[in-house]
Amino acid sequence: EKGGFEHFMLKEIYEQPDAISDTYRGRMLPDKGIIRMAGVDDNIERISNARRILIVACGTSWHAGLVAEYIFEDFARIPVEVEYASEFRYRNPVISENDVVIAISQSGETADTMAAIKLAKEKGAFVFGVCNVVGSSISRETHAGAYTHAGPEIGVASTKAFTTQITVLTLMALKLAKHKGTISTSDFQFYLQEMERIPEKVKLALNSDEHIQKVADIYKEATNCLYLGRGYNFPVALEGALKLKEISYIHAEGYPAAEMKHGPIALIDEQMPVVVIATKKGHYEKVVSNIQEIKSRKGKIIAVVTDGDIEVRELADHIIEVPETIESLTPLLTTIPLQLLSYHIAVMLGKNVDQPRNLAKSVTVE
Ligand code: F6R
Repeated sequence: EKGGFEHFMLKEIYEQPDAISDTYRGRMLPDKGIIRMAGVDDNIERISNARRILIVACGTSWHAGLVAEYIFEDFARIPVEVEYASEFRYRNPVISENDVVIAISQSGETADTMAAIKLAKEKGAFVFGVCNVVGSSISRETHAGAYTHAGPEIGVASTKAFTTQITVLTLMALKLAKHKGTISTSDFQFYLQEMERIPEKVKLALNSDEHIQKVADIYKEATNCLYLGRGYNFPVALEGALKLKEISYIHAEGYPAAEMKHGPIALIDEQMPVVVIATKKGHYEKVVSNIQEIKSRKGKIIAVVTDGDIEVRELADHIIEVPETIESLTPLLTTIPLQLLSYHIAVMLGKNVDQPRNLAKSVTVE
């Protein structure tokens, strides 16, 4: 059942090229220049005229929501807010019929996300679900939705659900952008073509697995770890830190790289591994200067870079390469090495990666 893999988590990490293409197959028609998503098509005016989009989710799904915030604002020019479902539901939120709520949930059973949906519906908002489990409670409670088609995710630590959530949300944002005219036909076409190349590029990113194992071996005894990223890769830094925490029990924090100087930089010393996402597009030069700041305080740098990078290679203690793509799609690639790094560290420490202590696959308690 694990298909020759030692753990479900590893199997699911390796399934991502197929999971991503399963998610866009039949929806994205690059030859015709269209994206078909029934749940969006049927409600296109309501969604594209939204005063704002409010995304509610928990955990890894909340991180996918943060990536979506950048994509929706960038492409479709609709203001987006992302909230933890648990905070939204308890704080008397200002929400009305003019808002569209997107609820993201792999399991479709998360209690706080469900409660947030019910509250939003009571206030008249239109609620769109992005779920993986077909027929799940959340998929039934929402007005419309789009499934991620990642296939069953058994490992408690979410992997392929995250990348397929980003895939669905990217398609949705591009579709809205096209409808609103906020994207040119040629850019739209180009993004679809780039999306079609992602599964192959994820495979290339997976090729670094052995190298990542060596890096994992060096840092497995660390007691703390920082993850930094900017722009589209800030949420990936949060996700990388969550993956490490939940399966290896090593304390990790994700930060937007520029926030370092406002506090966290005080933590840096020769004991501190810092994972920095420093891909070519997206504030590259700024990230390079953040790396220099860490280096001068003797932090250990593990950098995720674009294939062929020279500048960061000289500064970092270790580099992990991912193929080049457009900035908005980089999270689909930069996430891969961070998943593998956590996985290998946890295995080396003898932890139960598929069922970490204190965690459940679906959190049905509030
Ligand atoms: C992290 C993880 C959790 C879930 C969260 C939401 O690896 O699995 O943080 O992402 O409990 O679950 P869903 O997406 O099922 O609502």
